[in-house]
Amino acid sequence: MTVYLNGDYLPLSEARVPVLDRGFIFGDGIYEVVPVYGRKPLRLAQHLARLQNSCDAIRLSNPHTAEQWTALIGDFIARQDFADQNLYLHLTRGVAKRDHAFPKDAAPTVFMMANPLVTPSAEQFEAGVSAITTTDNRWLRCDIKSIALLANVLLRQLAVEAGAAEAILFRDGHLTEGAASNIFVAKHGVILAPPRDHLLLPGITYDAVIELARAHDVPLEVRTISEAEVRSADELWLTSSTKEVLPITQLDGKAVGSGRAGPLARRMLALYQSLKQT
Ligand code: PDD
Repeated sequence: MTVYLNGDYLPLSEARVPVLDRGFIFGDGIYEVVPVYGRKPLRLAQHLARLQNSCDAIRLSNPHTAEQWTALIGDFIARQDFADQNLYLHLTRGVAKRDHAFPKDAAPTVFMMANPLVTPSAEQFEAGVSAITTTDNRWLRCDIKSIALLANVLLRQLAVEAGAAEAILFRDGHLTEGAASNIFVAKHGVILAPPRDHLLLPGITYDAVIELARAHDVPLEVRTISEAEVRSADELWLTSSTKEVLPITQLDGKAVGSGRAGPLARRMLALYQSLKQT
């Protein structure tokens, strides 16, 4: 596998980062995951805008403009020998003597890798996945796509140990998101989505689903969602760049609605998939 590190293309096995990299020492960095279909990144402009927002939020100077990123990413995608890619892009505050305060003259570390993108099959979509629920114990800047993912790692591991695919998180009795995805609820033919704020990551897939629902007159409310509404949902699904739209058909061991993919999830996946052709 060819990866990109600070201007060089090299085999993954040869890519090395100094131990004093602030990503390693402090988790001081940000990242993006961009889905690539047939060597075309989906919604790249939106991913690059979110990358810029993450840079601004952590006061890291973005080493490239959106145009430069687009060229770099295009070149990187072309070098991979598979067409559908999970493109991972990672920026840290660079290498410096360990000190919490920002270093004066460190250059950001820039890393990219691509893995084959494996999205859920039609069968996996229809069956859906199971999720558990738990308390959202992360920090108050979940809108930053930070590489410091310890809380998310622990939450996701809880799900895995319960035989589930995702952990759905509640803060103060309200839905925030999943450990590595956004969560949508459907009830009585209406899609509910929690509003974008500092308590959840503004998913690019989340934005796409909301945009598509509005454009196609699918009833949608973006508002605070209570835990009770999640528990009595007709449908639940998660969204992410790698999972697209994936129904959650078991919640804490109980069937959600029919226990199979529902009509609104099916509609939104079809609309989302149509974006790949544009
Ligand atoms: N995770 N919320 C969290 C906490 C996430 O980690 C992700 C994605 C999302 C969905 O965002 P998007 O639609 O832009 O993928 C929401 C990625 C895929 C990851 O960390 O691998």
